[in-house]
Amino acid sequence: MDDDSSTTETFAELKTRSLGVSDVAQIAAGTGLAVYAMWVGILQPGFRRVPLKLQVPYIPASKSQVRNVMTLLKGRKGDIVDLGSGDGRIVLEAHRHGFTPAVGYELNPWLVYLSRFKAWRTGHHRSVSYRREDLWKVDLSKCKNITVFLAPSVLSLLQKKMLAELPDDALVIAGRFPFPDWTPCRVEGLGVDRAWAYSIDVQRHKTKTASNSFTKAEETT
Ligand SMILES: C[S@@+](CC[C@H](N)C(=O)[O-])C[C@H]1O[C@@H](n2cnc3c(N)ncnc32)[C@H](O)[C@@H]1O
Repeated sequence: MDDDSSTTETFAELKTRSLGVSDVAQIAAGTGLAVYAMWVGILQPGFRRVPLKLQVPYIPASKSQVRNVMTLLKGRKGDIVDLGSGDGRIVLEAHRHGFTPAVGYELNPWLVYLSRFKAWRTGHHRSVSYRREDLWKVDLSKCKNITVFLAPSVLSLLQKKMLAELPDDALVIAGRFPFPDWTPCRVEGLGVDRAWAYSIDVQRHKTKTASNSFTKAEETT
């Protein structure tokens, strides 16, 4: 009985007491520490050798985003590669849609383990693979279907790598953020779930035409 009344009193006191400066400072310090621990222990391990400007945090694609990516891949077949595959959801879904081999490249080891676990739990572990590799070092010369969900700052650099390496018949799908200098051949969805499809053949042709007309303009001036 005594215990009950003292607990009730404590709760009543907590309810009525306004937060003091030291309470706020403690909460802020606790939150900061939790965020820091999360960054150092879970998110950052993958980025140790990646320059700061190329680091992209983990944000999983929404269900609608995954659906939009799959819609843009309709009619395509063969291999699929997700660059920065996170928890592996795009790779897994693409494999469910018939793409094989389905490969995810991810720097964060925790996310690679999680992806493998999810593939094992759903019975796809023999048909999909997740590799702990830096996407900038992946040879894209044989990839036909590529998906990315990366930060805009990184996408401008990735355009160059893709134009230099991908075969003409490759299709690139970007989720959430479009490639800054490319023209999509199709767009699916709205807002943050939107996805853009780019034909490498068309893009390469446009880039060549643009640089030819620039050279001609320079010659005539
Ligand atoms: C925005 S998340 C997208 C995750 C997943 N593709 C999805 O759609 O749910 C970007 C992912 O790229 C990974 N990443 C960033 N830079 C990378 C790099 N250089 N090589 C491999 N993975 C990278 C991050 O660790 C993160 O998991």
